[in-house]
Amino acid sequence: MDKDTLKTKEWLDKRFAEGVKDGEYFAHQPIYGYKKGRTEGRDLIRYMRNLSILVKLSHYNFDSFIDIGGAEGYMPNLVKTAFKADSYTCDLSFEANVRARELFGIDSVGMDLSNLPFKDKAFDAVLCSEVLEHVTNPIQAICELKRITKKVLVITTEAVCYDKLERSLRMMLVDLNEHHCDRNWFLPDDFVFTLGNDIIYENTIYDPRAADKKASPDEARKILSSYAERGTFDRDGIGITVLSSGIQKTERPRISVQDLADIILNTTVSTDYKNNAASRLPLSTKLIESLQCPKCAGNVSMANDTLTCSACGSKYAVRNNVPLMYTDDKDADYLSRKWAMRLSGEFASTYKALLNLIKLFEHSTSSPNIFTKIAARRIMKIEKFAHNCAKVIRQRSFLGLLSYFLMTSKKKVSREIDRIIGRFKKIKSD
Ligand SMILES: C[S@@+](CC[C@H](N)C(=O)[O-])C[C@H]1O[C@@H](n2cnc3c(N)ncnc32)[C@H](O)[C@@H]1O
Ligand SMILES: [Zn+2]
Repeated sequence: MDKDTLKTKEWLDKRFAEGVKDGEYFAHQPIYGYKKGRTEGRDLIRYMRNLSILVKLSHYNFDSFIDIGGAEGYMPNLVKTAFKADSYTCDLSFEANVRARELFGIDSVGMDLSNLPFKDKAFDAVLCSEVLEHVTNPIQAICELKRITKKVLVITTEAVCYDKLERSLRMMLVDLNEHHCDRNWFLPDDFVFTLGNDIIYENTIYDPRAADKKASPDEARKILSSYAERGTFDRDGIGITVLSSGIQKTERPRISVQDLADIILNTTVSTDYKNNAASRLPLSTKLIESLQCPKCAGNVSMANDTLTCSACGSKYAVRNNVPLMYTDDKDADYLSRKWAMRLSGEFASTYKALLNLIKLFEHSTSSPNIFTKIAARRIMKIEKFAHNCAKVIRQRSFLGLLSYFLMTSKKKVSREIDRIIGRFKKIKSD
């Protein structure tokens, strides 16, 4: 975990403990019911987004589900109710993880999205909703999400832009002094480059005016029930939902929109949740089996409330039945080794695998082909994206904007691509 993430974690831990001592936890999602109890608000927007996620999932068969950055575990509880799947959550904040067990009896893991402590293809269905904009390493985070997904991955973010100019302006306005700020802004292409061409994306919410409305519970029910997928992405909508799946959709949705809307509206938590017996159940063995060492990808086993890696010997405490699978800066060496291990053909569409591919070609005598050219181009774009994010964040000034434009000038990019392709050509002639 880098220093920024550590700072964010400290702030989040305070946030997710808010209200607990007075007896009514200050919720992120509308857990107490529509416009009821102490919550952050924007209930209808959240309900609409949650419904759109559930509708996406309703097209697939899956037995296990995890919400990455799942806050207090609200969505895994809905998924468990709707689809009867084994549902888990995980979050950077330890306090959020504890809330998930207390409120919903949902098992949870403490971790950083950039370095997930789960085995490859550990879960059938994976959700990451409104989190990627907060992480310091978004490209690695998206690759990690893909790595742990077996069947279907759903990503949502409101931090989406419609063109590069908009992104550069938004990045200029990022204030890193703000706690848990939106430090990344995405273009749909970023997801194509990291997850591959076979993704589909659309606006998460089509009708912002409906969401703005101070709707009564009855009106909210009507708005939710009239939800229909549109498959389009434009400036009138809110946010982007990205779906990446290697499997076929079911012939028809497993649950109707109407039933999903009812599940959302009828699932609430009572304020005396502290007596929830499920919160005292031991940690699920299935979840333990899905874990791996976040430093070296070795197997971990549990004894005396500690998980120990059989490969590197690292130990991870389990507190309040929540495994704390964090790493710190000095583990960077481990991390690069872990990535090196993963660079097999299996994740060929991910950033690091592409880099590896280029390296492979550099060291082989095979001739450059169209594939390597495409790979080189994709790497350039991804590198550029990550680089720009970092650079523009650091230089929130006129100079920053200027250097951003200079850096991304077409000429410079095509020179860079030519340089990579030139290297392949040289290998060929050698
Ligand atoms: C805007 S909230 C979204 C919560 C939930 N997914 C939802 O849609 O309501 C962002 C969540 O991401 C978590 N988070 C922030 N940075 C993270 C990181 N690096 N790794 C894992 N979770 C993180 C926060 O603790 C918080 O619960
Ligand atoms: Zn290890």
